[in-house]
Amino acid sequence: MLEARMAVQRLQAYHPPLAGRQGLRLDFNENTVGCSPRVLARMRALDAEALARYPDRELVEREVARFLGLDASQLLLTNGVDEGIHLLCSTYLEPEDEAVIVAPTFAMYSIFAQAEGAAFVEVRSGSDFSFPTEALLAKINPRTRFIAVANPNNPTGAAVSEDLLLQIADAAPQAAFLVDEAYFEFHGETLLARPARPANLFVARTFSKAYGLAGLRVGVLVGDSQQMAMVRRVASPYNVNAVALAVLPEALQDRAYVERYAAEVRRNRNLLEQELRALGLHYWPSRGNFVLVRIGSLYVEFVRSLRERGILVRDRNSDPGCEGAVRLTVGSDEHTRTLITALRAVVGDLSLGREVRA
Ligand SMILES: Cc1ncc(COP(=O)(O)O)c(C=O)c1O
Repeated sequence: MLEARMAVQRLQAYHPPLAGRQGLRLDFNENTVGCSPRVLARMRALDAEALARYPDRELVEREVARFLGLDASQLLLTNGVDEGIHLLCSTYLEPEDEAVIVAPTFAMYSIFAQAEGAAFVEVRSGSDFSFPTEALLAKINPRTRFIAVANPNNPTGAAVSEDLLLQIADAAPQAAFLVDEAYFEFHGETLLARPARPANLFVARTFSKAYGLAGLRVGVLVGDSQQMAMVRRVASPYNVNAVALAVLPEALQDRAYVERYAAEVRRNRNLLEQELRALGLHYWPSRGNFVLVRIGSLYVEFVRSLRERGILVRDRNSDPGCEGAVRLTVGSDEHTRTLITALRAVVGDLSLGREVRA
């Protein structure tokens, strides 16, 4: 009988709750108003020939490289950051290796690392999700071959300083160290601004969040040219589809659209955090387009009540250290106003603020 590898049999299936997403979608950290109209126009102008051809990634990679101030040899366009993580794990992890990952964080790091048969070494964040620097450094050993840090982190919204990230890269030169900057546009700090980066450092970016293109599946993986040549060997030459490649230059050119949206989200993040304080709810200050809030024992009722009011939010209760926590995506002015109005009603109905204040 055909059997999957043991490493795969041991994996738990990961099912993001995508079913029945009707209403205001504040559950997946997407752009709540969608991509630039220029991107849509470019997509609508595609003809049959554009779809009949195999996609040519390289031309667009040169444009992305110019946009990021890099050489094209330093980057690879990927099918979302998800694929970038997968490729790094396939390129660097042997079954006897270890992957060091801070928890709580984005689920795909441990899934792809474990799929290679590597051991997943979880390092718990400190209280209030402070970055566990000492604990992480203590876990590094010669078998450590993959380390991933989301900066800012999902679901906590916490950011790590660049100096600390570089310290980790230095401490594990034998490991592929991924700094996942999926939420860069809402944070503003990036390791890509550094003129010289360690050879084991990789930085990932995505067009799924600020750019509003999660459905197209495009990300960028940046690293040392020689390392990227290795990673490219593992990637399909057609990993990014023709529609995504056709519209990407337009998305980059309409820089003003993304900057305007990111500024709107940053403003609304402040507004939401201010409202959460006023409601007496504990939250963690965020650098992303989302805020994690501690609801407590009534988190299921909270999520359900918001859903009944047409708003989807993400229950993060089962993430390490996130008991009773719910993540709220921050979007446009209008969507934030809608969220705040609903929050006031639900917090009142469930007497939530009182529970936290007590
Ligand atoms: C930290 C982080 N990295 C990567 C991703 C996925 O990015 P992509 O859509 O480019 O695969 C997410 C999505 O939620 C995320 O939170």
